[in-house]
Amino acid sequence: MKVDVLLGLQWGDEGKGKVVDVLTPRYDVVARFQGGPNAGHTLEFEGKKYVLRSIPSGIFQHGQINIIGNGVVLDPVLFREEAEALEKSGIDLKKILKISKKVHLIMPTHRLLDAANERAKGGSKIGTTGKGIGPTYTDKVSRNGLRLGDLFHNFEAKYEAAKSRHISMLESMGENPQLGDLEQKWLDAMDYIKGYDIVDSEHLVNRMLAEGKSVLCEGAQGTLLDVDFGSYPFVTSSNTICAGACSGLGVAPNKIGEVYGIFKAYCTRVGAGPFPTELFDETGRTIRDLGHEYGAVTGRERRCGWIDLVALKYSIMINGVTQLIMMKSDVLDGFDEIKACVAYDIEGERVTEFPFSIEEDKIVPEYVTLPGWKTDMTGMKSEDEFPEAFKNYISFLEKELATPITIVSIGPDREQTIVRDSKLTK
Ligand code: GDP
Ligand code: IMO
Ligand code: MG
Repeated sequence: MKVDVLLGLQWGDEGKGKVVDVLTPRYDVVARFQGGPNAGHTLEFEGKKYVLRSIPSGIFQHGQINIIGNGVVLDPVLFREEAEALEKSGIDLKKILKISKKVHLIMPTHRLLDAANERAKGGSKIGTTGKGIGPTYTDKVSRNGLRLGDLFHNFEAKYEAAKSRHISMLESMGENPQLGDLEQKWLDAMDYIKGYDIVDSEHLVNRMLAEGKSVLCEGAQGTLLDVDFGSYPFVTSSNTICAGACSGLGVAPNKIGEVYGIFKAYCTRVGAGPFPTELFDETGRTIRDLGHEYGAVTGRERRCGWIDLVALKYSIMINGVTQLIMMKSDVLDGFDEIKACVAYDIEGERVTEFPFSIEEDKIVPEYVTLPGWKTDMTGMKSEDEFPEAFKNYISFLEKELATPITIVSIGPDREQTIVRDSKLTK
């Protein structure tokens, strides 16, 4: 069996959580492979709304196994909050969730370091989610990290050593670290996690594949936030791309099957960093209002702009996307005209390959303007009902991106999903 991967092609918040939930009935296993509680994945169904941060979005369907893979960084306190809320709403999480022994733990001092690093950067700060993501991955790569499996291997000494190293770092930055009750809460949460199945998830996943089970990997963040290929340094600290599913779960590249690339019919970004098609005018504000573009975790305003096909083509190439999923097209339902950026003008040169630097003051986007469809699509049940202008928008994108759009989302609810490929209906 193959492993299918679903990942974001823009700067995150494309709607990954919603579509993972929709696709889950087709799979036996759903797995997260990178990121941590910087993610906020929203699901809506039966009049209820859930925001997941560390727990995969495959927990609400039919008892599929959900895995938090080794590439993830886990904050025990936030995990406990999330898990307890889900357990209260009737999900038997301890039965279906498996956590890799190799996940790296976000410590209270990692969060203090995240904040201190941002303060030190001043005007050039990244605008992180403040969840300690960067410092935790830094410790992983510098071989100083603390892993969940360490719980059974001299944990207290390892924790104390990491903590004192962090405190020295904070002090050398002029900080006066105060842990208060954070530490006790963290240690209590570590005890709570012991109630879960802590496993060698690379063995589990490969065993399940050998038994003929199907696996869906759920990406967090988006390709343009990837630490290697995103708009560095305004990125997150993990590989959000398809290759991240191999290293973050322990599946070999030749086991990857379908790669679902998910994007919004426009584009958003939260936090700092370049965004060539950003709109600072009324249109941008309208998109933000209609699309409720506020961070699921931080509540921060998301910056909004037109779709960027230069960047999307790059994301499709880096990930080997086999099919596209277009989200939030309903947000553009009332627009007279829709724009799509097809090239960048960089100091007089027409550029169609995503360049090393996308400093916005140097880039002038070249747009193609398409007629809007001016139709409320949110109640539609099949693509046959799509207005002609919307069908043309889909055809335009499929041609430009040379990849089929197999799912179109027309609202936040699970039901507001139009599947265009009969192979995907189950
Ligand atoms: P993720 O991080 O990629 O899972 O995405 P988020 O949950 O952070 O952000 C997507 C937001 O858009 C959430 O509030 C979803 O409920 C909402 N959403 C998802 N699909 C659609 C859609 O097709 N139309 C509209 N209007 N909202 C959507
Ligand atoms: P989901 O999975 C959107 C952004 C932050 C910041 C940068 C680095 O919901 O799509 P970090 O805390 O990771 O060190 O922040 O990355 N960022 C996201 N933006 N959606 C996300 O996740 C994000 N996770 C991180 O805003 O610019
Ligand atoms: Mg999100």
